[in-house]
Amino acid sequence: MTNKLKVGIVGAPRGQSFVRSFQAIEETDVTAICDLNIDTAERVANQFNIDQRYSDFGKMIQSDLDIIVVSTPMPLHAPQSTSALQEGKHVISGVPAATDLQQCWKLAQAVEDGKNKYMMAENYVYMKPNILIRELAKQGLFGDIYFGEGQYIHELKAFNEITRWRRKWQTGRNGCTYPTHSLGPVLQWFEDRVSTVSCFGSGHHYKDQSGRQYENEDTITMICKTTRGGLIEIRVDMLSDRPHNLNYYSLQGTKGCYEAARGLGDQPKIWLEEYSDQAVWQPLSDFEGQYMPEIWRNPPQEALQAGHGGGDYFEVREFFDSIINDTKSPIDIYESLDMTVPGLVSEVSINRDSISVEVPDFRSIKNFPEDLPKILQNSESISWN
Ligand SMILES: NC(=O)c1ccc[n+]([C@@H]2O[C@H](COP(=O)([O-])OP(=O)(O)OC[C@H]3O[C@@H](n4cnc5c(N)ncnc54)[C@H](O)[C@@H]3O)[C@@H](O)[C@H]2O)c1
Repeated sequence: MTNKLKVGIVGAPRGQSFVRSFQAIEETDVTAICDLNIDTAERVANQFNIDQRYSDFGKMIQSDLDIIVVSTPMPLHAPQSTSALQEGKHVISGVPAATDLQQCWKLAQAVEDGKNKYMMAENYVYMKPNILIRELAKQGLFGDIYFGEGQYIHELKAFNEITRWRRKWQTGRNGCTYPTHSLGPVLQWFEDRVSTVSCFGSGHHYKDQSGRQYENEDTITMICKTTRGGLIEIRVDMLSDRPHNLNYYSLQGTKGCYEAARGLGDQPKIWLEEYSDQAVWQPLSDFEGQYMPEIWRNPPQEALQAGHGGGDYFEVREFFDSIINDTKSPIDIYESLDMTVPGLVSEVSINRDSISVEVPDFRSIKNFPEDLPKILQNSESISWN
C-alpha cells in the first residue's frame, strides 16, 4: 500500500513496544523516533530500521508525520500530546493522560480545537479476561452493576532509582498517582464515571536509597462513588515488599459477580444467575465460546506476542482503525480524563483527612478554573511542578 500513515514516537525505551505494534500494521510506517538521549534514539532506530532520529520533540512534530506516540515520563504526556495535536497530528499517549488539572484542560481544548484523534493508551482494558467481562456487562448478564475493584500492586522501589521521574511523579506525591490500569477496565464495565473520591493511605514503612521517606503512602486506597451511585475501590501500591499483582479486579451486580485470578493456580471465576441458580463459581473461560468479542477470537500472532496480555497491540490496532474509518477514538479524550482525573483529585482528598471530593467532568467545563468545584480551585492538583 502506498500512502501509509507515518508514525513518530517520542520516548524510545517504552516506545519499542509501540514500534513493534505499528510495524505489525501493514498500513503504517514508523519513520521517526525521538529521545532526549540521542544515543537511545539511535539504538532503537537501528534495531527497528527507523530512518529519522530526533532529540528535539518540537522538530519531530513539525515533520510530515500523521501519528505521534507519546511514551515519555508522566509529566510530559499532556504537554507533548497538546503540542502534537496543535500541529495537526493524531496522538496516542501513555497513561495517565495528565499529571494536573491544568494539563487536562489544555489537552481537552487542543482536542476540541482540532480535527485529529486522541487516545490514552490504557492497555489493561484490552487484556483477554477484561474484554470478555466488558462484553458480559454490556449484555446485561451482571444485572445492575454496583461494586467493582481494581488493584495495581507492583513494587517499583529499585526502578524508581533508575527511572528517576517515577520517584517524583509516582512515589513523590501522596494519593492514587497511577490509577488508570485499575480504574480503566472497571469504568468500562460500569459504563459510568466517578463523581466523588475519598483517598486513604496505610502510612509509611519504606525509605528510598538515600534514606528519604516516600511521600506516597505504601498502599493507597481510592474509594470512588459513580454518578449512578455505584462503588469502586482502587488499590495502588508501588512500595510494599511483596510479589506483584498488577491486574486484580472484581465486579458485583444484582445478577452476577466476577473475581480475577489471584495467582498460584487460581483462575478468573464468575457466577451468573442466568446460567446457574446455585451460587457457585464457574471458570470465566466457560463463557469464551459464546461471548468473546471478535478481537480475542482469532488474535493475530502480533497480539499474542505483544506485552501486557496483548493490550500493547490491540490499543494501537483500534486507534489506527478509528483514524482510517473516522470513528470515535477507542478511549477518547473525555474517557481518558474519566480514568485520569479521579487520581489527581485523590491527592486533594488524602491531604485533607480523606474527605470526599467532587471529580470534575471536563465535558462540562467551559471556563477554567472557574467551573471547577471550589475545593479544587487553587488546590495542589491544579498545577504540579
Ligand atoms: N502502559 C504500560 O503498561 C506501561 C509500561 C511501562 C511504561 N509505561 C509508560 O511509559 C512511559 C515511559 O516509561 P519508561 O519506563 O520507558 O521510562 P524511561 O525513563 O525508561 O524512558 C523515558 C525516555 O523518555 C526520554 N525523554 C524524557 N524527556 C524527553 C523529552 N522532553 N523529549 C524526548 N524524550 C524525552 C528519556 O530520555 C527516556 O529515554 C511512562 O509514561 C510509563 O508510565 C507504561
